[in-house]
Amino acid sequence: MIKIRIPASTANLGSGFDSLGIALDLYNYVEIDFSDRCEISSKDGSEIPTGENNLIYVSAKKVFEKASKNFTGLKIIEENNVPFARGLGSSSACIIGGVFGANELIGKPFSKDRLLDIAAEIEGHPDNVSPALLGGLTVNVMEGNRVHYVKSEIPEELVFAAFVPPFELKTEDARKVMPKEVSMKDAVYNLSRSSLAAASFLSGKYENLKIAFEDKLHQPYRLPLIPGGFEIIEKSYEKGALAAYISGAGSTMMGIFDCGKQKANEIAKEILSSGNFEGWKYYILNADNSGAAAL
Ligand code: HSE
Repeated sequence: MIKIRIPASTANLGSGFDSLGIALDLYNYVEIDFSDRCEISSKDGSEIPTGENNLIYVSAKKVFEKASKNFTGLKIIEENNVPFARGLGSSSACIIGGVFGANELIGKPFSKDRLLDIAAEIEGHPDNVSPALLGGLTVNVMEGNRVHYVKSEIPEELVFAAFVPPFELKTEDARKVMPKEVSMKDAVYNLSRSSLAAASFLSGKYENLKIAFEDKLHQPYRLPLIPGGFEIIEKSYEKGALAAYISGAGSTMMGIFDCGKQKANEIAKEILSSGNFEGWKYYILNADNSGAAAL
């Protein structure tokens, strides 16, 4: 049995739609072994698909197929700590758990880069699977079936306050509300900001992040699906956030702070007690710079 640890991730980072993502130190665990059938269970009592449509199973099977290995089934035991369908990369953690675990099982025929290509093909975009596999901040472009990326570490001074509402938001639904086409003006607005976001992370010029995270491609269309989301952004900035945004496709709202974990914890508590945020939870996290790992 092989045990894999996979980090949560926060994608888009405002303007970097489908491109930027950061791994976070909140983890799912997947134990995986050969079997003559599909055997899937959960350690944490969460309700998970236990059939052949399970995303870890599907992803692992894909690696067997790509490596031309005989596939008879798998035994999978999941421990899920990343909230489901909340914009914290729970699907990507499953995909990476599957592809990474299967690759380990069959003697590592694929490099991490090829695993990333396979994972991004399954997910359809690279901005969660890439940091979940590699850790840190990743800047990604998907060209055909290949992901071209740069990975960079994120220092401990950056603290991520994840505000998680009591409702799910499926990525599929959050993608449906977006326009099919955008104006040149909005395209330039976003490309200049996402370049600034990437360069500011790489150089440590964090004072740029507020402007760099502004976005015209997805957040204006998605915020109406997240009651309380806009208030979290406003309140986070009032409390000194470097950036505040929808994490991935939502429903989690994220604030990035540089005031230390204890202070960020106080701020998050204050924000959630200052309005109508019944049922919301928060996590105070750092980036994970290592990515998926076999334990
Ligand atoms: N870039 C993706 C989106 C992340 O915003 O739809 C969620 O999977």
